[in-house]
Amino acid sequence: MKKAFILGITGQDGSYLAELLLGRGYHVHGLVRRASMFNRARIEHLRSSDPERLTLHYGELSDLTSFRRLLSRVQPDELYHLAGQSHVGLSFEIPEATCQENGLAALHLLEIVRDLQHPMRVYFASSSEIFGATSSFPQCETTPLDPINPYGCAKAFATQIARVYRKAHGVFVVNGITYNHESPRRGENFVTRKITLAAARLRAGAKEPLRLGNLDAVRDWGYAPEYVEGIWQSLQAEAAGDYVFATGQLCSVREFAQAAFAALDLDIGFAGSGVDEVGRRLDNGETVLRIDPVYYRPVEATLLVGDASRARTILRWAPRTVGPEVARVMALADWEKVRGETGS
Ligand code: NAP
Ligand code: GDD
Repeated sequence: MKKAFILGITGQDGSYLAELLLGRGYHVHGLVRRASMFNRARIEHLRSSDPERLTLHYGELSDLTSFRRLLSRVQPDELYHLAGQSHVGLSFEIPEATCQENGLAALHLLEIVRDLQHPMRVYFASSSEIFGATSSFPQCETTPLDPINPYGCAKAFATQIARVYRKAHGVFVVNGITYNHESPRRGENFVTRKITLAAARLRAGAKEPLRLGNLDAVRDWGYAPEYVEGIWQSLQAEAAGDYVFATGQLCSVREFAQAAFAALDLDIGFAGSGVDEVGRRLDNGETVLRIDPVYYRPVEATLLVGDASRARTILRWAPRTVGPEVARVMALADWEKVRGETGS
């Protein structure tokens, strides 16, 4: 039985990846952080359905000495490093923690793996944010790195150091350069989930308008369960390399919101501009969306849109759910959730 270790198993991607690996017969080990409240909602269903093949260990990226011990005891075939502070906006507020977790921790892990006798394949969760202010469109694996926020800088360092360990020390390490991927399990302070949850609550009768920052921001939005397929495939390939995982299509925050609201029969239109722009229901004129500059970022990425040709050719990976369709899937899932909670 193959063994995998997931750092970040309680997160959006970690939970879908654990599901995929258990479905493929793996024994899955995961690192969980001690928190004052239980933080395992995304994997609770797996803990009850597959207790023998899912083992959780307490740990922290800031305590990699104990992780070294754990890794040499478990001896996994595959190590997926998905853990870290994943909010770009927040990385301006907590840059040191962001860089420790997303940058230096990757180097520590690679040092541990390099020393271990047991060979293992390593996946590192890189990000489109490594390209930040690029003027190349679309971006691919060879696009020069040009990050513009602390999160992107940390991911750029880790991506590059992984390339060094691959070349210099022969470590089998893959950089998955993923563009935004979303799902009903997305954290509630990312813009997509914030929108779909608010749309469901408004549909259930809530009156408080949704408050967002930059509606003109555009992203290459895909669907997380499809991205973890690519993540797994990347460690099954003959050789280690870098892969862009992206849809290749752009959608603005405004368009995403429109698609999410429309999925719940709330057609909205926009009026005004800048901080005075509002989103109103077309049927009754009610204001359901306002701008709040508190959500503006000091710097925004330019146009992050990915070319996933390499993943398509080598891994036979292709995204199926794109932008507005992701919004629809998430809005319907949140509507079910809110309906259950409110009895609507
Ligand atoms: P997520 O939902 O925020 O999950 C992050 C995971 O990391 C959680 O399990 C979290 O544990 C864990 N974690 C955070 N800090 C940690 C620490 N100090 N020690 C141990 N564990 C820690 O993120 P995601 O969306 O699944 O993304 C997975 C990875 O891919 C991240 O590295 C992210 O930066 C990267 N990425 C994501 C996207 C995307 O669109 N989703 C795109 C590009 C790259 P808790 O549950 O205890 O908080
Ligand atoms: N979070 C948030 N909240 N973003 C908002 C809001 C708001 O109220 N209003 C507008 N936005 C805009 C942001 O300014 C940004 O341009 C865009 O929506 C997307 O923001 P997020 O959903 O926070 O995602 P992100 O693109 O910054 O980061 C995600 O994708 C990266 C890959 O490109 C994260 O998953 C990162 O971990 C990941 O690396």
